[in-house]
Amino acid sequence: MSSFKILQTLFLLSAAMMIAESNAQLSGTFYAKTCPNVSSIVRSVLQNAQQNDIWIFPKLVRLHFHDCFVHGCDASLLLNGTDSEKTATPNLSTDGYSVIDDIKTALEISCPRVVSCADILALAAQISVSLAGGPTWEVPLGRRDGRTAHREAIGAIPSAHESLNNITAKFKNMGLDSTDLVALSGVHTFGRAQCSSFVDRLYNFNGSGKSDPTLNATYVKSLTQLCPKGGNGGSLIDLDESTSLSFDNNYFLNLQNHRGLLQSDQELFSTSGADTVAIVNRFANSQSQFFDSFAKSMIKMGNISPLTGSNGEIRIDCRKIN
Ligand SMILES: *[C@@H]1O[C@H](CO)[C@@H](O)[C@H](O)[C@H]1NC(C)=O
Ligand SMILES: *[C@@H]1O[C@H](CO)[C@@H](O)[C@H](O)[C@H]1NC(C)=O
Ligand SMILES: *[C@@H]1O[C@H](CO)[C@@H](O)[C@H](O)[C@H]1NC(C)=O
Ligand SMILES: *[C@@H]1O[C@H](CO)[C@@H](O)[C@H](O)[C@H]1NC(C)=O
Ligand SMILES: *[C@@H]1O[C@H](CO)[C@@H](O)[C@H](O)[C@H]1NC(C)=O
Ligand SMILES: *[C@@H]1O[C@H](CO)[C@@H](O)[C@H](O)[C@H]1NC(C)=O
Repeated sequence: MSSFKILQTLFLLSAAMMIAESNAQLSGTFYAKTCPNVSSIVRSVLQNAQQNDIWIFPKLVRLHFHDCFVHGCDASLLLNGTDSEKTATPNLSTDGYSVIDDIKTALEISCPRVVSCADILALAAQISVSLAGGPTWEVPLGRRDGRTAHREAIGAIPSAHESLNNITAKFKNMGLDSTDLVALSGVHTFGRAQCSSFVDRLYNFNGSGKSDPTLNATYVKSLTQLCPKGGNGGSLIDLDESTSLSFDNNYFLNLQNHRGLLQSDQELFSTSGADTVAIVNRFANSQSQFFDSFAKSMIKMGNISPLTGSNGEIRIDCRKIN
């Protein structure tokens, strides 16, 4: 082994140890002394926010996901500015930022300069899922906020048009396996997507001039009413046609019926030979197995490269560094 290789190996080893160490520092009771009411404060802001926007819960889960996939769960997603991740292409069409601001404002009153924006995103995601009827889990806390945006790393976010192989690879890069991929995709049991994110599947799939053969023909008919050819790509369509406001396992039943709205959803079930098919079937058969796996996978995702100890900072305003 060349000395360069040895150095590189040592570096990778210590980097891996740093990740393991920093994960070990996250703890469900991190704010027990410094901000004991943190969960109830977040919950009450969310309950109020839902009065103004019935879609706020899925939006907030999406923010945590997008934050974690781009350079780790460090709230870099929330930063304003010309280097912002929010406005990077592909257009993330993320939303819900003002509710995160409201939570931060409430927390700064009760426990100033204590709770990080990265932890707010993780808590808001968990509480959103449980308020929508999904599972509850103890969120590991103690993340700190990054001081830079990472627009260059936006490509780590899977797109709705990617192949299952490519998406699996992106999850693997984050230390997430096929069970995590299927469980976390189950978040599409609630929320909506723009016509532009799937309209090609209705009219010109993969350049064929036809609809996607994996899409249920009756579903294609109803979707063409909602997303007419050449119409407004910004119209929002329920991701789970029957119960898009609640967190349940219908999403997996939809996939079995070839009624997955996004190509990346349907591929989990329709890619022959893929290990994801059996997992979809398992979650379709058992909501409690889905809920258990979802909670575990959210914790794993929330552990992606957090900043801890004296790294980063506790932002006072989630949109800008101190
Ligand atoms: C926590 O909330 C309860 C009820 O809202 C309140 O009575 C209590 O004073 C709060 N505790 C702290 C430390 O803020
Ligand atoms: C992203 O898309 C949304 C919805 O179509 C639009 O309102 C927003 O302006 C777009 N943002 C950017 C930065 O292009
Ligand atoms: C998958 O990834 C490869 C390599 O990055 C890329 O060339 C290809 O276009 C991707 N395919 C899909 C369907 O996303
Ligand atoms: C899209 O078309 C190309 C070329 O015909 C083909 O190789 C590929 O498998 C198709 N992809 C899908 C998802 O059908
Ligand atoms: C299409 O959807 C209907 C209603 O959910 C279902 O009964 C039927 O089996 C589906 N067809 C296919 C091919 O999945
Ligand atoms: C960040 O951008 C939002 C929307 O453009 C704006 O309302 C807010 O005041 C900005 N905050 C900071 C700290 O720049």
